[in-house]
Amino acid sequence: MRKLMTISATGLLLGLSASAALAAPDWSKVPAKEITLLYPGVSPIEWIMTGTEHGGARGIKKGETCAGCHDEETADMGQKMASGQKIEPSPIKGKAGSIPVSVQAAYDAANVYLRFSWKQPAGGAAKLDPDNQVKLAVMLEDNKVDRAGQSGCWETCHKDVRTMPGVTDDKKTKYVAGADLKAGKYYDLMQWTSKGAKHDGYVADKRVMDGGKALIDAKGEKKGDQWTVTFTRKLAGGGEGDIAMAAGKAYNFGFAIHDDFSKGRYHQVSLGYTLGLGAEADIKAMKQ
Ligand code: HEC
Repeated sequence: MRKLMTISATGLLLGLSASAALAAPDWSKVPAKEITLLYPGVSPIEWIMTGTEHGGARGIKKGETCAGCHDEETADMGQKMASGQKIEPSPIKGKAGSIPVSVQAAYDAANVYLRFSWKQPAGGAAKLDPDNQVKLAVMLEDNKVDRAGQSGCWETCHKDVRTMPGVTDDKKTKYVAGADLKAGKYYDLMQWTSKGAKHDGYVADKRVMDGGKALIDAKGEKKGDQWTVTFTRKLAGGGEGDIAMAAGKAYNFGFAIHDDFSKGRYHQVSLGYTLGLGAEADIKAMKQ
Protein backbone atom coordinates (compact mmCIF):
# COMPACT_ATOMS: atom_id res chain seq x y z
CA MET A 1 0.00 0.00 0.00
CA ARG A 2 2.72 2.33 1.01
CA LYS A 3 4.70 1.51 -2.12
CA LEU A 4 1.66 2.13 -4.31
CA MET A 5 1.20 5.56 -2.81
CA THR A 6 4.81 6.45 -3.50
CA ILE A 7 4.42 5.44 -7.11
CA SER A 8 1.33 7.53 -7.63
CA ALA A 9 2.94 10.52 -5.96
CA THR A 10 5.88 10.20 -8.34
CA GLY A 11 3.49 9.87 -11.26
CA LEU A 12 1.80 13.07 -10.23
CA LEU A 13 5.12 14.89 -10.04
CA LEU A 14 6.16 13.64 -13.47
CA GLY A 15 2.83 14.68 -14.89
CA LEU A 16 3.23 18.16 -13.50
CA SER A 17 6.75 18.69 -14.77
CA ALA A 18 5.79 17.41 -18.24
CA SER A 19 2.97 19.90 -18.53
CA ALA A 20 5.19 22.71 -17.25
CA ALA A 21 7.73 21.82 -19.94
CA LEU A 22 5.01 22.02 -22.58
CA ALA A 23 4.16 25.63 -21.81
CA ALA A 24 4.59 27.74 -24.94
CA PRO A 25 7.17 30.52 -24.60
CA ASP A 26 6.28 34.12 -23.85
CA TRP A 27 7.07 35.24 -27.40
CA SER A 28 7.29 38.89 -26.40
CA LYS A 29 10.55 37.98 -24.63
CA VAL A 30 12.10 35.95 -27.46
CA PRO A 31 14.39 37.87 -29.85
CA ALA A 32 13.39 37.81 -33.53
CA LYS A 33 15.53 37.44 -36.63
CA GLU A 34 14.34 38.96 -39.89
CA ILE A 35 14.71 36.62 -42.84
CA THR A 36 13.52 37.71 -46.28
CA LEU A 37 12.16 34.86 -48.36
CA LEU A 38 12.64 35.08 -52.10
CA TYR A 39 10.74 33.78 -55.07
CA PRO A 40 13.30 31.34 -56.54
CA GLY A 41 12.12 31.06 -60.15
CA VAL A 42 13.65 28.05 -61.86
CA SER A 43 16.90 27.73 -59.91
CA PRO A 44 17.25 24.01 -59.13
CA ILE A 45 20.54 22.79 -57.66
CA GLU A 46 21.63 21.71 -61.15
CA TRP A 47 21.38 25.36 -62.29
CA ILE A 48 23.05 26.59 -59.09
CA MET A 49 26.08 24.36 -59.64
CA THR A 50 26.58 25.21 -63.32
CA GLY A 51 29.22 27.92 -63.51
CA THR A 52 28.22 29.14 -66.96
CA GLU A 53 24.67 29.82 -65.64
CA HIS A 54 25.25 30.90 -62.02
CA GLY A 55 28.09 33.16 -60.96
CA GLY A 56 28.06 31.58 -57.48
CA ALA A 57 28.85 28.00 -58.55
CA ARG A 58 32.61 28.45 -58.12
CA GLY A 59 32.19 30.03 -54.70
CA ILE A 60 30.03 27.14 -53.52
CA LYS A 61 32.65 24.65 -54.69
CA LYS A 62 35.15 26.56 -52.54
CA GLY A 63 32.87 26.29 -49.49
CA GLU A 64 30.93 29.56 -49.54
CA THR A 65 27.27 29.62 -48.51
CA CYS A 66 24.27 31.03 -50.38
CA ALA A 67 23.56 33.36 -47.49
CA GLY A 68 27.18 34.51 -47.42
CA CYS A 69 26.76 36.01 -50.90
CA HIS A 70 23.04 36.71 -51.04
CA ASP A 71 21.58 37.26 -47.56
CA GLU A 72 21.12 41.00 -47.95
CA GLU A 73 19.82 41.04 -51.51
CA THR A 74 17.10 38.38 -51.49
CA ALA A 75 14.34 40.97 -52.08
CA ASP A 76 16.03 42.20 -55.29
CA MET A 77 16.73 38.66 -56.46
CA GLY A 78 13.14 37.55 -55.85
CA GLN A 79 11.83 40.56 -57.75
CA LYS A 80 13.98 39.70 -60.78
CA MET A 81 12.57 36.19 -60.90
CA ALA A 82 8.95 36.94 -59.98
CA SER A 83 8.82 39.55 -62.75
CA GLY A 84 10.29 37.12 -65.29
CA GLN A 85 13.39 39.22 -65.87
CA LYS A 86 15.44 36.16 -64.90
CA ILE A 87 15.03 32.34 -64.89
CA GLU A 88 11.23 32.31 -64.79
CA PRO A 89 9.67 31.36 -68.15
CA SER A 90 6.09 31.72 -66.84
CA PRO A 91 5.87 34.63 -64.40
CA ILE A 92 2.71 34.88 -62.30
CA LYS A 93 1.10 38.30 -62.40
CA GLY A 94 1.16 39.95 -58.99
CA LYS A 95 3.44 37.32 -57.42
CA ALA A 96 5.35 38.72 -54.44
CA GLY A 97 9.08 38.58 -55.18
CA SER A 98 9.91 38.43 -51.50
CA ILE A 99 8.35 38.19 -48.05
CA PRO A 100 10.16 39.54 -44.97
CA VAL A 101 9.48 37.13 -42.11
CA SER A 102 10.23 37.53 -38.44
CA VAL A 103 11.53 34.23 -37.02
CA GLN A 104 11.69 33.32 -33.33
CA ALA A 105 12.84 30.14 -31.65
CA ALA A 106 12.90 28.80 -28.11
CA TYR A 107 13.48 25.45 -26.44
CA ASP A 108 13.15 23.67 -23.13
CA ALA A 109 14.01 20.19 -21.88
CA ALA A 110 11.35 18.56 -24.07
CA ASN A 111 10.58 20.71 -27.11
CA VAL A 112 11.68 23.28 -29.62
CA TYR A 113 9.22 26.10 -30.45
CA LEU A 114 9.29 28.07 -33.68
CA ARG A 115 7.27 31.15 -34.53
CA PHE A 116 6.99 32.90 -37.89
CA SER A 117 5.17 36.16 -38.53
CA TRP A 118 4.77 38.20 -41.68
CA LYS A 119 2.53 40.62 -43.47
CA GLN A 120 0.28 39.14 -46.14
CA PRO A 121 1.61 40.33 -49.51
CA ALA A 122 -0.69 41.36 -52.35
CA GLY A 123 -1.81 38.44 -54.50
CA GLY A 124 -4.66 37.66 -56.82
CA ALA A 125 -3.11 34.98 -59.06
CA ALA A 126 -4.96 31.84 -60.20
CA LYS A 127 -5.63 29.53 -57.24
CA LEU A 128 -3.42 26.46 -57.77
CA ASP A 129 -4.31 25.15 -54.29
CA PRO A 130 -7.81 26.53 -53.69
CA ASP A 131 -8.03 24.91 -50.21
CA ASN A 132 -5.06 26.73 -48.75
CA GLN A 133 -4.44 30.43 -48.94
CA VAL A 134 -1.13 29.86 -47.17
CA LYS A 135 1.17 26.97 -46.27
CA LEU A 136 4.41 27.18 -44.30
CA ALA A 137 7.00 24.40 -44.32
CA VAL A 138 10.19 24.04 -42.28
CA MET A 139 13.11 21.76 -43.05
CA LEU A 140 15.72 20.72 -40.49
CA GLU A 141 18.90 18.83 -41.27
CA ASP A 142 21.41 17.24 -38.92
CA ASN A 143 24.66 18.11 -40.73
CA LYS A 144 24.83 14.91 -42.76
CA VAL A 145 23.57 15.76 -46.25
CA ASP A 146 26.47 16.89 -48.45
CA ARG A 147 26.56 20.69 -48.85
CA ALA A 148 23.40 21.18 -46.73
CA GLY A 149 25.31 23.59 -44.50
CA GLN A 150 25.91 25.81 -47.53
CA SER A 151 22.82 25.53 -49.64
CA GLY A 152 19.97 24.73 -47.25
CA CYS A 153 16.83 23.40 -48.93
CA TRP A 154 18.30 23.75 -52.43
CA GLU A 155 19.71 20.21 -52.08
CA THR A 156 16.10 18.97 -52.42
CA CYS A 157 15.28 21.16 -55.42
CA HIS A 158 15.90 19.54 -58.81
CA LYS A 159 15.17 20.30 -62.43
CA ASP A 160 13.21 17.04 -62.93
CA VAL A 161 10.57 17.52 -60.21
CA ARG A 162 6.93 18.35 -60.85
CA THR A 163 5.95 21.89 -61.85
CA MET A 164 9.45 22.51 -63.26
CA PRO A 165 9.34 23.61 -66.92
CA GLY A 166 9.00 20.68 -69.30
CA VAL A 167 8.30 18.10 -66.56
CA THR A 168 5.08 16.21 -67.27
CA ASP A 169 5.34 13.72 -64.37
CA ASP A 170 3.07 15.23 -61.70
CA LYS A 171 4.10 12.69 -59.03
CA LYS A 172 7.83 13.38 -58.90
CA THR A 173 8.41 15.30 -55.66
CA LYS A 174 11.50 16.94 -54.25
CA TYR A 175 14.32 14.59 -53.21
CA VAL A 176 17.91 14.48 -51.97
CA ALA A 177 20.61 13.04 -54.26
CA GLY A 178 22.37 10.24 -52.35
CA ALA A 179 19.65 10.16 -49.68
CA ASP A 180 20.03 7.56 -46.93
CA LEU A 181 17.40 7.55 -44.22
CA LYS A 182 19.38 5.21 -41.93
CA ALA A 183 22.56 7.25 -42.21
CA GLY A 184 20.69 10.48 -41.50
CA LYS A 185 21.01 11.86 -45.04
CA TYR A 186 17.60 13.46 -45.33
CA TYR A 187 15.76 16.63 -44.38
CA ASP A 188 13.15 16.52 -41.66
CA LEU A 189 10.04 18.33 -42.85
CA MET A 190 7.02 19.82 -41.13
CA GLN A 191 4.24 21.85 -42.63
CA TRP A 192 1.25 23.90 -41.49
CA THR A 193 -1.56 24.78 -43.89
CA SER A 194 -4.15 27.51 -43.45
CA LYS A 195 -6.96 24.99 -43.94
CA GLY A 196 -5.82 23.54 -40.61
CA ALA A 197 -3.66 20.57 -41.59
CA LYS A 198 -0.30 19.77 -40.05
CA HIS A 199 2.21 17.40 -41.56
CA ASP A 200 5.29 15.71 -40.09
CA GLY A 201 7.36 14.08 -42.79
CA TYR A 202 10.78 14.16 -44.44
CA VAL A 203 12.60 14.43 -47.77
CA ALA A 204 14.92 11.54 -48.66
CA ASP A 205 14.82 9.78 -52.05
CA LYS A 206 11.32 11.24 -52.23
CA ARG A 207 9.14 13.51 -50.17
CA VAL A 208 6.98 11.88 -47.49
CA MET A 209 4.47 14.23 -45.88
CA ASP A 210 3.32 12.26 -42.84
CA GLY A 211 4.23 9.53 -40.38
CA GLY A 212 6.70 11.41 -38.17
CA LYS A 213 6.26 11.50 -34.40
CA ALA A 214 8.02 14.74 -33.54
CA LEU A 215 5.44 17.39 -34.31
CA ILE A 216 3.21 18.12 -31.33
CA ASP A 217 1.35 21.08 -32.75
CA ALA A 218 1.27 23.58 -35.61
CA LYS A 219 -1.06 26.55 -35.41
CA GLY A 220 -1.60 29.66 -37.45
CA GLU A 221 -3.83 32.67 -37.56
CA LYS A 222 -4.27 35.91 -39.45
CA LYS A 223 -5.01 39.10 -37.55
CA GLY A 224 -5.63 41.99 -39.89
CA ASP A 225 -3.01 41.44 -42.58
CA GLN A 226 -0.52 39.77 -40.23
CA TRP A 227 0.03 36.00 -40.25
CA THR A 228 1.51 34.14 -37.29
CA VAL A 229 2.37 30.46 -37.40
CA THR A 230 3.87 28.45 -34.53
CA PHE A 231 5.27 24.94 -34.34
CA THR A 232 5.89 22.84 -31.24
CA ARG A 233 8.24 19.95 -31.91
CA LYS A 234 9.64 17.27 -29.63
CA LEU A 235 13.43 17.50 -29.42
CA ALA A 236 13.79 13.73 -29.32
CA GLY A 237 11.91 13.13 -32.56
CA GLY A 238 11.28 9.41 -32.45
CA GLY A 239 9.62 8.58 -35.77
CA GLU A 240 10.91 7.82 -39.24
CA GLY A 241 12.48 10.92 -40.74
CA ASP A 242 12.57 12.78 -37.42
CA ILE A 243 16.01 14.12 -36.58
CA ALA A 244 16.89 13.90 -32.86
CA MET A 245 17.71 17.37 -31.54
CA ALA A 246 19.68 18.21 -28.41
CA ALA A 247 20.88 21.22 -26.45
CA GLY A 248 24.38 22.33 -27.41
CA LYS A 249 23.91 21.58 -31.12
CA ALA A 250 23.10 23.52 -34.28
CA TYR A 251 21.07 22.30 -37.24
CA ASN A 252 20.64 23.40 -40.82
CA PHE A 253 17.37 25.24 -41.16
CA GLY A 254 15.28 26.53 -44.03
CA PHE A 255 11.64 27.39 -44.53
CA ALA A 256 9.20 28.27 -47.28
CA ILE A 257 5.83 29.93 -47.64
CA HIS A 258 3.31 29.08 -50.33
CA ASP A 259 1.37 32.33 -50.43
CA ASP A 260 -1.71 33.31 -52.42
CA PHE A 261 -3.09 29.73 -52.90
CA SER A 262 0.04 28.57 -54.72
CA LYS A 263 1.66 25.15 -54.89
CA GLY A 264 4.71 23.30 -56.18
CA ARG A 265 7.67 25.49 -57.02
CA TYR A 266 5.63 28.72 -56.90
CA HIS A 267 6.68 29.43 -53.31
CA GLN A 268 8.90 31.93 -51.55
CA VAL A 269 11.88 30.27 -49.89
CA SER A 270 14.66 31.07 -47.46
CA LEU A 271 18.34 30.59 -48.12
CA GLY A 272 20.01 28.09 -45.80
CA TYR A 273 20.54 29.19 -42.17
CA THR A 274 21.42 27.46 -38.91
CA LEU A 275 19.27 27.01 -35.83
CA GLY A 276 21.19 26.60 -32.57
CA LEU A 277 19.96 25.22 -29.26
CA GLY A 278 22.46 26.78 -26.90
CA ALA A 279 24.99 26.72 -29.75
CA GLU A 280 26.38 29.39 -32.07
CA ALA A 281 24.00 29.80 -35.03
CA ASP A 282 22.19 32.31 -37.28
CA ILE A 283 19.04 31.79 -35.22
CA LYS A 284 19.67 31.16 -31.56
CA ALA A 285 16.77 29.44 -29.85
CA MET A 286 16.16 30.98 -26.43
CA LYS A 287 16.40 28.56 -23.52
CA GLN A 288 13.46 28.68 -21.15
C1 HEC B 1 30.27 33.36 -54.32
C2 HEC B 1 29.02 34.07 -54.25
C3 HEC B 1 27.75 33.28 -54.51
C4 HEC B 1 27.32 32.17 -53.86
C5 HEC B 1 28.01 31.36 -52.78
C6 HEC B 1 26.00 31.88 -54.37
N1 HEC B 1 25.68 32.78 -55.35
FE1 HEC B 1 23.90 32.92 -56.32
N2 HEC B 1 24.62 34.39 -57.50
C7 HEC B 1 25.86 34.96 -57.37
C8 HEC B 1 26.00 35.97 -58.41
C9 HEC B 1 27.25 36.81 -58.63
C10 HEC B 1 24.79 36.01 -59.11
C11 HEC B 1 24.38 36.95 -60.25
C12 HEC B 1 24.92 36.63 -61.56
C13 HEC B 1 24.56 35.24 -62.00
O1 HEC B 1 23.37 34.92 -62.21
O2 HEC B 1 25.50 34.47 -62.17
C14 HEC B 1 23.94 35.01 -58.51
C15 HEC B 1 22.65 34.75 -58.93
C16 HEC B 1 21.77 33.91 -58.30
C17 HEC B 1 20.38 33.71 -58.65
C18 HEC B 1 19.63 34.37 -59.79
C19 HEC B 1 18.96 35.64 -59.40
C20 HEC B 1 19.85 36.83 -59.46
O3 HEC B 1 19.72 37.70 -58.57
O4 HEC B 1 20.64 36.98 -60.38
C21 HEC B 1 19.88 32.81 -57.77
C22 HEC B 1 18.47 32.29 -57.69
C23 HEC B 1 20.95 32.42 -56.89
N3 HEC B 1 22.09 33.11 -57.22
C24 HEC B 1 20.82 31.52 -55.87
C25 HEC B 1 21.87 31.05 -55.09
C26 HEC B 1 21.76 29.96 -54.15
C27 HEC B 1 20.48 29.25 -53.81
C28 HEC B 1 22.99 29.74 -53.65
C29 HEC B 1 23.45 28.65 -52.71
C30 HEC B 1 23.10 27.29 -53.10
C31 HEC B 1 23.87 30.73 -54.25
N4 HEC B 1 23.17 31.48 -55.12
C32 HEC B 1 25.21 30.86 -53.93
C33 HEC B 1 26.81 34.66 -56.41
C34 HEC B 1 26.72 33.65 -55.47
